[in-house]
Amino acid sequence: MGANVYITKLIPTVGIEHLKKHCETIEVNPDDRVLTPEELIEKVRGRDAVLCLLTDAINDKVYEAAGPQCKIFANMAVGYNNIDLEAAKKRNMITTNTPGVLDDATADMAWALLFSAARRVVESDAHMRSGKWPGWGPLQFIGQDITNRTLGIIGAGRIGTNFALKSIGFNMKVLYTDVVRNEELETKLGAQKVSMDELLKSSDFVSLHTPLLPETTHLIGEKELGLMKNSAVLINSSRGPIIDEKALVNALQERVIAAAGLDVYELEPKAAEGLLELENVVACPHIASATEETRNNMALIAAKNITEVLAGRPPLNPI
Ligand code: GLV
Repeated sequence: MGANVYITKLIPTVGIEHLKKHCETIEVNPDDRVLTPEELIEKVRGRDAVLCLLTDAINDKVYEAAGPQCKIFANMAVGYNNIDLEAAKKRNMITTNTPGVLDDATADMAWALLFSAARRVVESDAHMRSGKWPGWGPLQFIGQDITNRTLGIIGAGRIGTNFALKSIGFNMKVLYTDVVRNEELETKLGAQKVSMDELLKSSDFVSLHTPLLPETTHLIGEKELGLMKNSAVLINSSRGPIIDEKALVNALQERVIAAAGLDVYELEPKAAEGLLELENVVACPHIASATEETRNNMALIAAKNITEVLAGRPPLNPI
């Protein structure tokens, strides 16, 4: 193929190698930083395909700059809130994502956050390293039990379901909210579909797994946090803007809830003022899919979506 492909940031080698085998020109942004909107517009000009990331805002100006010969923007992520799908449709631009391959890694990370926040792992690790530990004490670092407690899943899609199914060893009662019933969770775990208010009031752990949409933006705000138990732990491995982060900082400062485990933030790479000073927050830098196998798979799938489309075949993962 005489195709010309642009990659907006360095990705795992398997993805680049796949493209090199099938396309004539591959250019990769060599810098370990997100391109500015102006740079992105310049770089996509005249390309046949673009492999982009969740940190790139892909809008009509970008499509216009790319030009009518450009067939596809392949997002190396399952989430695609960074892409203006309406504009893509109007320009007949194909958009793809990488669903499926990151369910385990993301669900595992949500569990890591749940355990870390509930059992104060990061806080007590810092204490140990400070050299100030005076020796065992009956009142030190008291956290929350996990086994036999109630787990609330907001958004029981692929990742939410995977996360919930992993609770089986902890004998948890599982509640969920979603627009549709999830028979797998009901059959395998005896999970109950409940209203959002009931889930928030009854759960010891609330984990967010919805996509970011206008309807899910600030789904968890002051009112919702107020409904949660004072002992509850909130986990977010989906998208930051689903939580009103300022309201979360207040709720954690006032102990309206006990703790939060976060992998995503409202205005990445920044966190809301005060959030990172709180001891009852475990804060990771958007790494839920960051395992070697998963990132390799994501890169390869994004690359394969491009080569399929450039060969005139349908994409593997159209959005
Ligand atoms: C990661 O956040 C993704 O959407 O793949």
